[in-house]
Amino acid sequence: MHFSSLLTAAAVGIASINAQTQYTATNAASVEAARATARTLSPTSSIKGKTFDRFVNIFLENTDFDMAAADPNLQWIASQGITLTNYKAITHPSQPNYIASVGGSTHSVIWDLFSRISSSARTIVDLLDAAGVSWSEYEDDMPYSGFEGDYINQVNGANDYVRKHNPLMSYDSVTSDLDKLAKIKNLTMFYNDLDSNKLPQWMFITPNMTNDGHDTSVTVAGAWAKGFLEPLLTNPNFLSRTLVLLSQFPSYSTYRLD
Ligand SMILES: *[C@@H]1O[C@H](CO)[C@@H](O)[C@H](O)[C@H]1NC(C)=O
Ligand SMILES: *[C@@H]1O[C@H](CO)[C@@H](O)[C@H](O)[C@H]1NC(C)=O
Repeated sequence: MHFSSLLTAAAVGIASINAQTQYTATNAASVEAARATARTLSPTSSIKGKTFDRFVNIFLENTDFDMAAADPNLQWIASQGITLTNYKAITHPSQPNYIASVGGSTHSVIWDLFSRISSSARTIVDLLDAAGVSWSEYEDDMPYSGFEGDYINQVNGANDYVRKHNPLMSYDSVTSDLDKLAKIKNLTMFYNDLDSNKLPQWMFITPNMTNDGHDTSVTVAGAWAKGFLEPLLTNPNFLSRTLVLLSQFPSYSTYRLD
């Protein structure tokens, strides 16, 4: 009895030391095992905002402003709201922009490679938690909630879900906390939460590498964005004092200008 509780304590100790990388394995067996046990949370709240109660942040990839502005689907989306013409990315490549969007700094990350930011670095979700505002990320094609690696399309090997486009995932303050990992979910969970009216008040949504235009084109990204957003704009489970911010990243050649 005594011995087994010691063993349990040791196992818990090891798990917490490795928390930030415990969900990185990408082989099919590890993914299946973690999928069966990983925690998923869908908290809700109804804190009143001054002008909106829900904020949705979506990034599309690698197209210059002029090309995005010329895409008919993105034009349709723009016609539903306002265009922010002086809203700029801060650097290239992608990852530091995502990181800064939730932590106010790139934390010296200059690349797209696997990065870990010190647990002393706080993020927007610490502020949201302190205020009782529910939040979740929804990452297209992430295999299970809290997965910490990259996941390729299992049929054709194409880039699919990538950690570099997951803004919170590089922060040790997030990955060391199982309750926070449980709120970093896939798009299947978005539709589950939508249908059961359990969407949170703050969310970040990342389309996969096909749908965000990264590995395709602005035409694909525009079609995805309209196809995704149009039905939501008449769905009261989504659109109730909701602000959607859709951003299109410029390509490498012109990011300094755009
Ligand atoms: C999405 O995440 C949930 C929760 O971890 C998991 O059960 C489900 O299999 C995932 N869906 C897909 C399509 O990977
Ligand atoms: C991204 O999602 C779409 C469905 O929305 C799918 O057709 C496509 O194959 C996915 N991309 C990859 C690389 O898996």
